[in-house]
Amino acid sequence: MLTKANTPSLENYWMPFTANRQFKAAPRLLAGAEGMYYTDVDGGKVLDGTAGLWCVNAGHGRRRIAEAVERQLTVMDYAPSFQMGHPVVFDFAEKLAARAPGGPDAKLDRIFFTGSGSESVDTALKIAIAYQRAIGQGTRTRVIGRERGYHGVGFGGISVGGLVNNRRVFPTLPGTDHLRHTHDPERNSFVKGLPAHGAELADDLERLVGLHGAETIAAVIVEPVAGSTGVLLPPKGYLERLRAIADKHGILLIFDEVITGFGRLGTPFAVDYFGVVPDLVTTAKGLTNGSIPMGAVFASRKVHDALMQGPEGQIELFHGYTYSGHPAACAAGLATLEIYEEEGLLTRGAELATHWQDAMHGLKGLPHVIDIRTIGLVVGIELTSREGAVGARAYEIFTDLFKKGLLIRVTGDTIALSPPLIVEREQIDTMASMLSDSIKQVA
Ligand SMILES: Cc1ncc(COP(=O)(O)O)c(C=O)c1O
Repeated sequence: MLTKANTPSLENYWMPFTANRQFKAAPRLLAGAEGMYYTDVDGGKVLDGTAGLWCVNAGHGRRRIAEAVERQLTVMDYAPSFQMGHPVVFDFAEKLAARAPGGPDAKLDRIFFTGSGSESVDTALKIAIAYQRAIGQGTRTRVIGRERGYHGVGFGGISVGGLVNNRRVFPTLPGTDHLRHTHDPERNSFVKGLPAHGAELADDLERLVGLHGAETIAAVIVEPVAGSTGVLLPPKGYLERLRAIADKHGILLIFDEVITGFGRLGTPFAVDYFGVVPDLVTTAKGLTNGSIPMGAVFASRKVHDALMQGPEGQIELFHGYTYSGHPAACAAGLATLEIYEEEGLLTRGAELATHWQDAMHGLKGLPHVIDIRTIGLVVGIELTSREGAVGARAYEIFTDLFKKGLLIRVTGDTIALSPPLIVEREQIDTMASMLSDSIKQVA
């Protein structure tokens, strides 16, 4: 096992989304993981409040996944993904299709594999544009996102994304625009359940149709519950309204379920939670329990079939990745699905949601806490920012809690938790009480 004594130099690895110099001056190094816990290089136990990065939904160290991957790598490590196939990828697609978002009626059962959430997003955007062209709507190339959205870090993803730090340095795609975000603390703070106010914000899509012309718009993409920006729940009726407006104008609706997919909300997908059926669903993370990088885009038959036209010997979609449907990732995904199913994990969040909500809302009234938002097994705890130092307070809580043995995530001054779906009630209580102590302690 990696220990502090045999830790390599920290110089060479350029860390993603990390303050590299600050981190390397005081590193936090994880060396092992089992169940609900990480072990750090000093041997300290760290309760995982975040399922890694919202992905280890079945908890850590699942032997079944490791064995499936090992078996697959031994039998066949890799197969070309273009103009070649292998049974495992078809098997995985078929099994996923049987559990596709929205169930059989939604017909979201045509599956394109990718290597990550960012790739899933770019894939979905490209499929949407290709679809429009295939049905004779070739002027529809514009894609609409939402302020405060996070759709990964590809140029497509940052273009429809709405987090300023991810955009300010980079050029974005021409022909994108954004709905306003739905965060409205004045009207909706400390609400249990979905916010009552803000469904009308979906009318922004009408505004953008008025501004650009429907005939220029291919698709609108939103996270059903915005995760990385700090857990923003959709106002009641918002997603339904967005669906209706998109339909009215021939615009495809894409749900980015990279976080919400695979049980996070207490239903298999957010599509199931909200009962709103989009045309495309992007996933990754929980698809393989975080074990092997992989993403999947669920496309409706309508979208898929429109592209299966033209001469049969012609490639229908000029898009794909070397690692689309990688055998080891598919093996990991198949084992993950079996675990989810056998342990009822895709709906376990629903059983725990009330306990989770009560525990987290118990933090109301603590210093600096200005809002608490929960859904399924997710919480966003928003704190006031220090004057001129946005994010400093939450970051201090993050480092304090890591030292004490709890892993949380912070974005700006919002704390986010999304534990593995195997979490026990006592562990939820532990998380709440550790949070409480740390929030009180950090001024
Ligand atoms: C909603 C959403 N979309 C896309 C992504 C990007 O996924 P990845 O980091 O696997 O590229 C994320 C990652 O957190 C996400 O939350």
